[in-house]
Amino acid sequence: MEKKVILSGIQATGDLTLGNYIGALKNFVKMQDEYNCYYMIANLHALTVRRDPDELKNNTLKILASYIASGIDPDKSTIFLQSQVHEHAELGWVLDCYTYMGELSRMTQFKDKSAKHADNINAGLFTYPSLMAGDILLYQADLVPTGEDQKQHVELTRDLAERFNKLYGDTFKIPKPYIPKVGARIMGLQDPKSKMSKSSTIPNDTILLVDTPDEIMKKVKKAVTDSDGIVKYDEENKPGISNLMEIYGILTKKTMEEIEKEFEGEGYGTFKVAVANAIIKELEPFHKKYNELMANPQYLEEIYNKGAKKATEVARKTLKDVYDKIGIIS
Ligand code: TYM
Repeated sequence: MEKKVILSGIQATGDLTLGNYIGALKNFVKMQDEYNCYYMIANLHALTVRRDPDELKNNTLKILASYIASGIDPDKSTIFLQSQVHEHAELGWVLDCYTYMGELSRMTQFKDKSAKHADNINAGLFTYPSLMAGDILLYQADLVPTGEDQKQHVELTRDLAERFNKLYGDTFKIPKPYIPKVGARIMGLQDPKSKMSKSSTIPNDTILLVDTPDEIMKKVKKAVTDSDGIVKYDEENKPGISNLMEIYGILTKKTMEEIEKEFEGEGYGTFKVAVANAIIKELEPFHKKYNELMANPQYLEEIYNKGAKKATEVARKTLKDVYDKIGIIS
C-alpha cells in the first residue's frame, strides 16, 4: 500500500523556539517512517514582514539545519525550499482567485499580525493563507502536522480544495490538520497567556533551540508562576506552571498526574530546575548537530537542491492538472 502523504513547513524567520520544536518538529520526526513526508522551508511566506536580505538567506539555512539536527532524515523525507519550487507561487496565485476576501478577513493570524505590524499591512499578509493552501495541495497531502495556531489555515485549505473540486472535478486531495493533543500551544514563559513566539520582544519569554544550557536554566528559573507553590495542572488559574508541566511532560513522557506526584511537597524552585534540565538534555544532541551543519553550507546546499528536484516532480504534475482544468496554457 502506498504511504500517506504529509506536508508541513516552518517560516524562515529568526531562530526556532521550543514551541516550534514541540508543536511541529518533534512530530515531523516521528512521522517520517510511516508517511511520505515533504517538509518545506517557507521562505516566500517570510516576505510578509520586511526582512534584511542576508538575514533571510541565513534564516533559511538555519531552518534547514534545524530540521536535520532535530532528526529529520533527508534520505527519508523530502526537505526543500519553497522558493525553489516555482509551482508554489503559481498555485498560490490561482488559489487567490478562488478565495473570498471575507474568508481571509476572518483569519485570526491575519488579525493578530496586522495589529502587530500596523505600519505594513500588505496584501501578502492578507493572502498568505492561499499560498499556504497551495503548499499543501500541490503534494496531495493527506495530513498536515502543525501546532494549534495553524489549524484555521488548514481548514481554509480544505474549503478551497473542496470548492475547486466541485467546480472542476477531482483535483486535490482534501487534507486533514494533525494537531498533537499535548504541546500544540506552548506558551510564553513570561506571558503564559500568549503563545511562545519567535517574534516575542519580551525578555526571557521564549526559549530558542540555539540557547545555551545556562540561558535555558536562567530563563526557566525566571518563568512566571503563581503564589500557591503547588505543582498542579490548572490551565485556567495556573497558566505558568501548567505550561512548564506540559513542556516537562512531553520531554520526559510523563502524564500530568505523574508530574504532580513527582513534585508533591516540593517548591517551584526544584520543579523549575527539573524542567530546565529536561530541556537542556533534549537539546544537547540538537546543538551539536546544528553547529556542525551550519559550518557546512555546501552540504546544506546539496540537500536543498536534491529536495527541490523531488518536490518539483510532484508539484509540477498537480499544477499541470490545475492549469489544464481552468484553461491556462502552460
Ligand atoms: P510558523 O513558522 O509560525 O510555525 C511553525 C510550526 O510551529 C508551530 N508552532 C507552535 N506549536 C506549539 N506551540 C507554539 N508556541 C508554537 N509556535 C509555533 C506552528 O503551529 C507550526 O506548525 N504558516 C506556517 C508555515 C507554513 C506551513 C505551510 C505550515 C507555510 N506553509 C504549509 C504547514 C503547511 C507558519 O507560519 O508556521
